[in-house]
Amino acid sequence: MIKYVTTPIYYVNDIPHIGHAYTTILCDMFKRYQVLKGKECLLLTGTDEHGQKIESSAKARNKTPKEYVDETSFKFQNLWNKFDIAYDYFVRTTNEAHDMGVKRAFEEMYKNGDIYKGHYEGNYCISCETFFTKRQLVDGIFCPDCGKETNSIKEESYFFRLSRYEKKLLDWYKANPDVIMPLNKKSEIINFIEGGLSDLSITRSGFKWGISLPPFIDDSKHIMYVWLDALLSYITPLGYGNDIPNKIYLFNNATHFVGKDILRFHAIYWPAFLMSLNLPLPKQIYVHGWWTIDGVKMSKSIGNVVNPDDIANTYGLEVMRYFLIREVPFGQDGDFSHKALVDRANADLSDTLGNLVNRLLGMSEKYFDLNIESENFDYLKDEINEVSTIIKSLESYMTNMTPHKYLEELWKIFDIANASIAKYEPWAMMKAGKKDEVQSLLVFISNILSKGALLFYPILPHAAREIMKCLKVDFSYFGKLIEDDGLLNKFSLTKIPPLFPKLEIKTSNVIEKKSDIKEEIDISQFNKIDIRVGRVVEADILKDSSKLLVLRIDFGENVGIRQIVSGIAKHYSPDELKDMLVCAIINLKPVKLMGILSEGMILSAEDSSGILRLISANDIEAGSVVR
Ligand code: MSP
Repeated sequence: MIKYVTTPIYYVNDIPHIGHAYTTILCDMFKRYQVLKGKECLLLTGTDEHGQKIESSAKARNKTPKEYVDETSFKFQNLWNKFDIAYDYFVRTTNEAHDMGVKRAFEEMYKNGDIYKGHYEGNYCISCETFFTKRQLVDGIFCPDCGKETNSIKEESYFFRLSRYEKKLLDWYKANPDVIMPLNKKSEIINFIEGGLSDLSITRSGFKWGISLPPFIDDSKHIMYVWLDALLSYITPLGYGNDIPNKIYLFNNATHFVGKDILRFHAIYWPAFLMSLNLPLPKQIYVHGWWTIDGVKMSKSIGNVVNPDDIANTYGLEVMRYFLIREVPFGQDGDFSHKALVDRANADLSDTLGNLVNRLLGMSEKYFDLNIESENFDYLKDEINEVSTIIKSLESYMTNMTPHKYLEELWKIFDIANASIAKYEPWAMMKAGKKDEVQSLLVFISNILSKGALLFYPILPHAAREIMKCLKVDFSYFGKLIEDDGLLNKFSLTKIPPLFPKLEIKTSNVIEKKSDIKEEIDISQFNKIDIRVGRVVEADILKDSSKLLVLRIDFGENVGIRQIVSGIAKHYSPDELKDMLVCAIINLKPVKLMGILSEGMILSAEDSSGILRLISANDIEAGSVVR
């Protein structure tokens, strides 16, 4: 049966980071492993483009949501193309076909009696696009997942009868104990379900950037909750509810890879939605941990986000792939550091693998003009048996999704090859006239590299192809060399450029504290600055200037109305500013800007991406002093 594997679809309010690359590379590895074993496997990835967070990000950049998502979705697709990710589907939740499919799913669930209208009262985290009950919040207000402040909302909403699926979900997990891997993650989910499932709010109102409800319901106040929309992206590209050629049968054998933070959506809501739609449930949900940087969560505000494109450009794409998969046991969190990556690559890829290829080529050329042949491997019997045992053990590491262990074990066959060179000293054997024995050793090593390259192809596809080119083997040898545990007797080698040159650390993760702090002042100097809250009474574009606005600001009884010219025209329209409460320095020496008097300076902050916002003083009376 054809396999179908999915990455989560990525939010487009961010550029791709190393965590996104990790999930995507894992799925690519999964697909390539299936293909290597002669199975068909299709891979879906894509972008999650609706929701309040994305609407706000677009607004902050003065873009329409559509302009914004087109730009950022493209960055993801571009990167996966550059990384040679073998995806078959790239879904965008703003596609028309997806929109149709989501509306159809809503209608089906409604007809099946699983959707009703009610009121939602609780808290919402915009950053995670997640609803929380008071009980789940930290200190009654903060999001338990990302720590940000949640908004308390009370709104009319449509609900999905999740409570109806409590028992069905528990029965499903009982009948399919291995669906979630690693297994310890399953108990979290079972506990959550056993704690009781409340019905799920599946629509939002108050903003517009989302899929509207199907026409039969005739309610334009609501849009679909972004997670209902997003999860359905796993089936809409297969033709669910739209006119794309129907391949929904692929979903009979679906594997989802997800980070631990989004397991609940995939392990509770998603199967419940599928049950309601009478569709097959996923066969497998693989849950991976998080990458941290020096033990700290990646975040734009800390400035420690690792860009996978930079890492691949600096050290090589395959080095990054190998490191991500080999370094950390699947399911656990791992710390990303340049040092760890370089150490790992130098030890495993340069010293062990690259060196072995060089030695094989060097000796084969020197002694046999690159043509080696042997029928007799008697003196290498023990080594051959060890290699066979290791290779036979590998499959279980992949099926149990412990790819780090798969690589750890696989690399032992290269250690055996290197050790056999040290042990038998082919240069000494040549001197002693044992030419046949030397050929046996080199043919044995060529077999190890042929087997190894086939087996590490899912993780290092480029290096595998290079080695296969060097040894003149191809994927059709998988049966003989791996399944039948056979050996080839003859190789005619082709020289290839060194595969993994030694690396040096190009930068460190230590976040450099830029010393851009200004000269120290004392409080009396600060007190000389008169900052007050003012209400914008009027704002106009300054003629002939693309940057300046002229504002008339009321600073309360004592100061009155002042005129201030400010360079914010690219960030605010005059209408937006009207009645805004801002902070301004009012004792700055007046100046004329383009001939217009400016009697103060409004305070603003600009971030590294060029977004500028005024420092606002909402709810503070005009004239109040800022200290
Ligand atoms: N849009 C949702 C997924 C919808 S799937 C129907 C979403 N997107 S995301 O862009 O925020 O995250 C996508 C994936 O990246 C998640 O699996 C998440 O766990 C993973 N990662 C985000 N940061 C990560 C790390 N620092 N480390 C590893 N993976 C992380 O959630």
